[in-house]
Amino acid sequence: MDAFNLLKTDHRKVAELFEQLESASGKKKLDVFAQIKTELDLHAHIEEKIFYPALEEASETHDIVLEAYEEHKQVKTLLSQLSRGRTANDEWQAKAKVLQENVEHHVEEEENELFKKARAVLNSEDVEELGMRLEEEKERKQGTKSSKGTTKAASKSANKSASTSKSAGKAAKRVSRSSGSKSSGSKSTKKSRSKKSGAKKR
Ligand SMILES: [Fe+2]
Repeated sequence: MDAFNLLKTDHRKVAELFEQLESASGKKKLDVFAQIKTELDLHAHIEEKIFYPALEEASETHDIVLEAYEEHKQVKTLLSQLSRGRTANDEWQAKAKVLQENVEHHVEEEENELFKKARAVLNSEDVEELGMRLEEEKERKQGTKSSKGTTKAASKSANKSASTSKSAGKAAKRVSRSSGSKSSGSKSTKKSRSKKSGAKKR
C-alpha cells in the first residue's frame, strides 16, 4: 500500500463523516462525532509515529512537518473539548464547525504541499514501506490483529527489514554519489545521518 494513498483514503473517510455530521440531528450528531474522533485520533497517531518522522529531517519537508504537528495539537484540543459535550447545542455545533475547517485546511496543506514535497524526499520503495508500516500500526492500534494477522505481520516485518536494509544501502549509495567530494568529514556525517534514520525506521 502506497503511504500517500493510505493517508488520502483516511482523509476522504473523515470528509464523509463530516458531511454526515452536518445532516445528522440531536443525539445522532454525537454518535457521528464519536466516529470522527476515533478516525482522527488514529490518523494523527500513525502520522506522528511513522509518517512525519520520516520527513522531519529533510530540509524540503522540515518546516511543513513542524507546522503539521502544531495543527494536530489544535485539532486534538478541539476533539477533547467536543467529546466532553453532552448535547449538540449551538456552541457545540460552532466548535464542531471550527474543527471541520481546521481539518479541511490541514488535509489540503498535506495533500497539496507536504505530499508533493515528500515525493522529492522519498523514493517509491520508501513510499511503499511507509505505507506498510502505517497500515500495520493502524491494525495494531485498532487491536484487529488476529493470529492470522500476526503471522502476516511477522512475514511483512521480515520483508520490511529486508527492504529497509536494501533501501538503507541505496540511500548510502545515493549519498556517496551525490556528495561526490573526497572530503571524508562530510561523507561520514551524511553516513551517520542515514544510519540514524535507518535505525529510526526499525
Ligand atoms: Fe493527514
